Amino acid sequence: MPIETKQRKPSISAYFKTLGIKECKSKRDFWKHVTEVDSVLAEDLEPLISRKKQGNLYVVKNAVLPFSLAVESWTQSFHQSFLTWINRQNQLKPKRILEIGCDNGLLACWYATRFPDAEIVGIDQSANGIRCAKELSKQLGLANMSFYRIDFNELRERFLMNSFDLIISVRTFHEIMGPLFIPKYWSLPDCLKENPTYGDCLYLQIVDELLTEDGTYLSCERFENPADVGKWANSLKQANLHVQWDDCDIIDYHELGTKKRSPIIVATKRETGITTLEGMEHLYTKDYPLVLEAGKSYNGAKAEFAYHRLGEKIFKSGHSLDVPGHWHVFRFEIWETSVFLLVYSYGNMGHRHLDILPAGADLDAQLLIEEAIVQYSHLGPIVQYDHQEDCPKSYIMSTMEK
Ligand SMILES: C[S@@+](CC[C@H](N)C(=O)[O-])C[C@H]1O[C@@H](n2cnc3c(N)ncnc32)[C@H](O)[C@@H]1O
Repeated sequence: MPIETKQRKPSISAYFKTLGIKECKSKRDFWKHVTEVDSVLAEDLEPLISRKKQGNLYVVKNAVLPFSLAVESWTQSFHQSFLTWINRQNQLKPKRILEIGCDNGLLACWYATRFPDAEIVGIDQSANGIRCAKELSKQLGLANMSFYRIDFNELRERFLMNSFDLIISVRTFHEIMGPLFIPKYWSLPDCLKENPTYGDCLYLQIVDELLTEDGTYLSCERFENPADVGKWANSLKQANLHVQWDDCDIIDYHELGTKKRSPIIVATKRETGITTLEGMEHLYTKDYPLVLEAGKSYNGAKAEFAYHRLGEKIFKSGHSLDVPGHWHVFRFEIWETSVFLLVYSYGNMGHRHLDILPAGADLDAQLLIEEAIVQYSHLGPIVQYDHQEDCPKSYIMSTMEK
C-alpha cells in the first residue's frame, strides 16, 4: 500500500510498520523475526553478522527487499530516534539532498516523504542495496528521488560542485574510511590538545565540495566514545566544515535492548570561533547543566567535564584494573578538592563516572570505590596504589595513550 507522500510530518512508526520493520528488544527477537521473513537468507546472514564467516554482509542482507527491510529491525530504534530528530528540524528546508551510504533507501525514502519539494539522491557502493532502494521508492510511489551505485570516492566525477544543500551520512564513514584506530584516552582535554583527526580529511573535503555555500552536512556516525566525536569535529574543520555545536544533539535509543546514545553532528561552512573541546562540553551538558555540589553523580562525558571543572585536586588513593588480553584499563580513584571528595572511575576506552561527596566523607567514598570494584572485578585482577606514581604502568594524569 503506497504511503501518503504529501503529508508534512508523517508518522515514523507507521512507516516502519508498513515496511515490516519491528522493534526487537533482543537478538532472539531479531533472529526470530528475520527467520520468519526468509529462513534461508537468515541462515546465510547470521555467520556474517557474528563474524564467524567472512563475506559481504550487504549482498546477503539486500538480496531481496522484504528481507532487507526485516533486517532493519536491528537498528529500528536508532533509525526511529534519528528520524524523529530530523522531523523536529523545522529550519531544514532543503532543495537537494544527498545521502551517502543510503543502503536499501530506508532513510532516503523517509527524507523524500518528509521533504516532498526536495530532490533526493541516494548513493551506495552496494549493487543489491541500490536495487532494493529503487524498488522501495517505487513501492512507496516516490517520484522525487534517484539512487546510484557509486563509490563515495567517485562522487566528484558524478555530481557538480556545490550542488547539494543538505548532505547526510548515517553510520557510513567508518566503512568508507576503512578500519579506524580505536581511541584510548584518559583525559579529553589531553586527547584533543593537538587537534587529532578521525581519519584523512580528504574524504570530508569531498563532502565540502559537493555542499552549497549555505548548505548543511548532518552526520550520525559510529563513534566509539567522545574522543571520536572530537576527532570527527577536527576532521570536519580541516575540510572547511565547522560544527554548529548549538544545533547538534545526542539521541537515545536501544540496539536489541541495549541502551545507546549517538551524537548528531551538524556542520556548515560558517566558522564559529569555538574550540572542539568547548563545543563538546556544550553538546554533552546543554540538556543537563552540570551542578557541582555534594550529592551529584555524573556518567560519561558529563562526568569528565564535571571532573575537569572542579579544578585543583589532590590524589588520595586508587585501584587499577588491566583487563588481561585486552586494552581496557580502568582506574577507581579518590581525589580531594578544597570542598569536595571525588570518587572518579574512568577507563582508557571512555568509561567515566563521578560522585561528588562532601569533604570528610571518606567512609562513603571508600564504600563507593568498593562497590565499583565489585562491579568490575570479574574482568581481571585489581591492584591498589596509595601514590599516583605507584599506579601500574607508571600512569600519570596527563598521559594520553597513543
Ligand atoms: C552500516 S551501513 C549504513 C546504512 C544506512 N546509512 C543506515 O544508517 O542504515 C553502511 C553503508 O555504507 C555503504 N558504503 C560503505 N563504503 C562505501 C563507499 N566507499 N561508497 C559508497 N557506499 C559505501 C555500505 O554499502 C552500506 O550500505
